[in-house]
Amino acid sequence: MKILVTGGAGFIGSHLVRRLVTGGGHEVVNLDALKYSGNPANLRDLEGDRRYRFVHGDIGDQPLVERVLREHRIEAVVNAAAETHVDRSIMDPGTFARTDVVGTGVLLEESRRAGVSRFLQVSTDEVYGSVETGSSTEEAPLVPRSPYSASKAGGELLVLSYWTTFGFPVMVTRGSNTYGPNQYPEKFIPLFVTNAIDDQALPLYGDGRQCRDWLAVEDHCAAIDHVLLRGEPGQVYNIGGGNERENLVVAERLLACLGKPAQLIRFVRDRPGHDRRYAVDCTKLHALGWRPSVSFEGGLNATVEWYRTHESWWRPIKSGEFRRYYEEQYRTRLNEAG
Ligand code: TYD
Repeated sequence: MKILVTGGAGFIGSHLVRRLVTGGGHEVVNLDALKYSGNPANLRDLEGDRRYRFVHGDIGDQPLVERVLREHRIEAVVNAAAETHVDRSIMDPGTFARTDVVGTGVLLEESRRAGVSRFLQVSTDEVYGSVETGSSTEEAPLVPRSPYSASKAGGELLVLSYWTTFGFPVMVTRGSNTYGPNQYPEKFIPLFVTNAIDDQALPLYGDGRQCRDWLAVEDHCAAIDHVLLRGEPGQVYNIGGGNERENLVVAERLLACLGKPAQLIRFVRDRPGHDRRYAVDCTKLHALGWRPSVSFEGGLNATVEWYRTHESWWRPIKSGEFRRYYEEQYRTRLNEAG
């Protein structure tokens, strides 16, 4: 197939593009705006591969999207372009609404007009909001509680409306917290691993007892690939790793992997509106034939090892735009914590 992947220079997007090209033998066009977390180095290994093309641009740029879809005769679209970090959505909600809702709308409409035969929206389990007990099936109500998750919910509702209204064959995946190589170090695991390597404090929000279900990026991409080929139009599929862990337990574990002391953990002021727990019921995707294959302990060890041996990837990131963000997000918190 000729597939357009948006956000293919980002974390999940780059792993997905590589899988579709080298594993699936598809032709892939990667449309990426190369904002702060998009990194061409993530796909350097595909440069020169005739099955892979990179186009620099935004999913909200209607003339560009129209041209890319037509010129490359795209058959399927996977929208993995998004603003994704909850803490940044608290600082700057407008950017999230623009990219995750309006940008998605532009890509969706152009895809429909171009007669694309499958459109997969990469969404998140955060649209269900905080899940105190049990787990969310795809029918659970959407109760997003951050500007990030509200924007993702808006985007996917727009996508689903195209099935109802136009019969346009869309699918939505709601993945749980994803981790692995190439994740921008603003997120919990890569932030804590890279801080620990440098013997810097690990800023743990609140009591550190929030729960996330950790999904290895290769499992997440395998699931997206599976749904793209085998999913039913108009359907939503949860993707979970089946690895629920409290943040404190994850922090302690990665410190142990690195041989660093638990004293690096600092309990800092909580994130406003911090969701306590996410948990998804994946019965529907299991019935479609997908299962996760990476154990959390094995995946975390491999991820820690990747960051330990790829300083040339993350050091330039941490010294650039990231430094300003880190100061704003953490300086006062860390000072308060002493
Ligand atoms: P994050 O990676 O931001 O993902 P999300 O909030 O979208 O699930 O955070 C994962 C968990 O780790 C979440 O409960 C917030 C917590 N966390 C910290 O305690 N400290 C931090 O510096 C960050 C970035 C996250």
